[in-house]
Amino acid sequence: MKYPIIAYGDPVLRRKATAIEPDEYPHIKQIIDDMYETMYGARGVGLAAPQVGLSMRLFVIDASVFADEEPDLKDFKKTFLNATILEETGEEWGFNEGCLSIPDIREDVYRKPTVKISYYDENWKHHEDIFSGLAARVIQHEYDHIEGKLFTDKLSPLRKRLIEKRLNDISKGIVDVEYKMKFPAVKKGR
Ligand code: NI
Repeated sequence: MKYPIIAYGDPVLRRKATAIEPDEYPHIKQIIDDMYETMYGARGVGLAAPQVGLSMRLFVIDASVFADEEPDLKDFKKTFLNATILEETGEEWGFNEGCLSIPDIREDVYRKPTVKISYYDENWKHHEDIFSGLAARVIQHEYDHIEGKLFTDKLSPLRKRLIEKRLNDISKGIVDVEYKMKFPAVKKGR
C-alpha cells in the first residue's frame, strides 16, 4: 500500500518523532514495506515516517541511484529504526537537495561529510556505523525529518525569502506532482 506523502506546512513534519518500542508495533515490517513502496512510487532516495504522517523514529533509504557517482552505493538499501546521530565530522560541503514533501524545490545545502550513527535495522538488530559522502548526506536529510527539521531550515535568509511563496503554494496544493500527497492548507471536501 502506498501512503500519501505529507506536504510542507503540516505540523507532523515539525514534530520531534518518538522512539518505537518493538512490542508497540508488531506490524512494523508492513509499515516499512509500505514506506519503500511509497518512496519508489515517488522516485525518492529516502523517506521518513513523519512524511507519511507517522511521528515515529523510522526512515528508509535506497541510495543505489547514486552508484554511478559512488560505486559503493550499488546495493545501499537500509532501514533505520530509533536512529541517533552520535557524531558528524569533516568540512561542510554543498549538495543540491530536494524532498518529497517539498516538490519542485531544490537548493544547495551544506552538511558535514561523515556521520556516525546508532540505529536498529528492520530485524531489531543494533548497528553503530560510519557513513560518508552521499550515503551520509541522505541519512542526514532523513534524520532531520525525525527531528522535525527540513532542508529549507538550513538556507540563507535570502534563499528562504525567495522560495517563501512557493512553499506556501505547496501547502495549499498549488504544485505539479506525480505522486499522491496530502496538503495541510487544502480544506476537506474541496
Ligand atoms: Ni525530505
